[in-house]
Amino acid sequence: MKIMSFVMTVEALLQGKKRASRRFWSDKTAAQFKKGDLVQAFNKNPRNGGECIAIIRLTKNPFRQHLDEITEKDFHAEGGLLHWSSINDFIFALKKMNKGFVPFVIEFELVHVLKPLNLWWQKFWKAAHYYAEDDGIVLGGDARQVLSEFPAESAALFFTDPDYSEGSLLGFWLLAKQAPRILKQGGVLITEAPHKYLNAIQEVFQLHGGAQDLRWRWLYNFLFLEGAQRRLRMGIHVITKPLLCYSKGKWKNRGFVKDGLPVKPQKKVKHKWQKNLDGYLYFIERHTDEGDIVIDPFAGSGTTAFACRQLKRRFVVIDIDDQCCRQISEDLRKES
Ligand SMILES: C[S@@+](CC[C@H](N)C(=O)[O-])C[C@H]1O[C@@H](n2cnc3c(N)ncnc32)[C@H](O)[C@@H]1O
Repeated sequence: MKIMSFVMTVEALLQGKKRASRRFWSDKTAAQFKKGDLVQAFNKNPRNGGECIAIIRLTKNPFRQHLDEITEKDFHAEGGLLHWSSINDFIFALKKMNKGFVPFVIEFELVHVLKPLNLWWQKFWKAAHYYAEDDGIVLGGDARQVLSEFPAESAALFFTDPDYSEGSLLGFWLLAKQAPRILKQGGVLITEAPHKYLNAIQEVFQLHGGAQDLRWRWLYNFLFLEGAQRRLRMGIHVITKPLLCYSKGKWKNRGFVKDGLPVKPQKKVKHKWQKNLDGYLYFIERHTDEGDIVIDPFAGSGTTAFACRQLKRRFVVIDIDDQCCRQISEDLRKES
């Protein structure tokens, strides 16, 4: 199939707003394109790493048209105001490219979009992905590896709940090291944490995060007013689940947040550590804006992903357990 590369006007092309292109082609090149031909549209020259993003069909044989004959209608068919400030601006740009030729006009229709360009998640998905849509991605793999490949300054919030079985603080250590690099300035890290190791976890954050300007903010709590657990050996009736909150650099004030939120005990229908969606909704909403990227490197049943979807935040959730990733992806697809 023949190829045409679109660089500046890709967005208009993918939106179906570009139906013509002017090219300073030779007669020989133009003769290779005929009405009805299917053509691969590239986002840049494939020799420079361009990718095929759409298929277009020519609606006319290419024909020459002098720049002085371009009308407003022609200008809009080129993608118009999406790229140039006015028709004069457009003609000026063409004149700069013009080396004394009269350009060919290639008119076409969009047949099929292959891959929308600049999908926000493309930069994240070096790891195996189970789900990748506009609302978020589910990545499989060890968060140690996956986070180390993440682009810096890309997320507004880490909201997570690391595994700490057998007293391993590895997850917290990883958060302390990677979150300050991956968060944008003013971004927030909120992590559930076990009472028993709070002291040690704080030290981990101070040691690794502090050096990267991860600043302690507050202790939030989920409050289990019903169904609280009793730790008989310790003699404590546990009604709180702590959430540690840090900011990267200066705290960005978004208004009041309650530091204790009553939540109902969660039935573990999806995952043995599944958490209450309402609690996640509350804190994610108050620390992000619509469209922000929220990362949960220890996804489990994907509570963070489902909260983000409801709140129109974009999620990047990771889990080392293949079954978790499959289940989250299946549930996301079912829900959409
Ligand atoms: C406590 S659960 C998260 C539960 C989750 N908040 C929910 O609502 O379902 C922790 C998850 O971290 C995952 N995990 C443990 N170590 C990991 C690692 N190194 N990389 C990625 N995921 C990991 C486990 O498979 C588990 O699903």
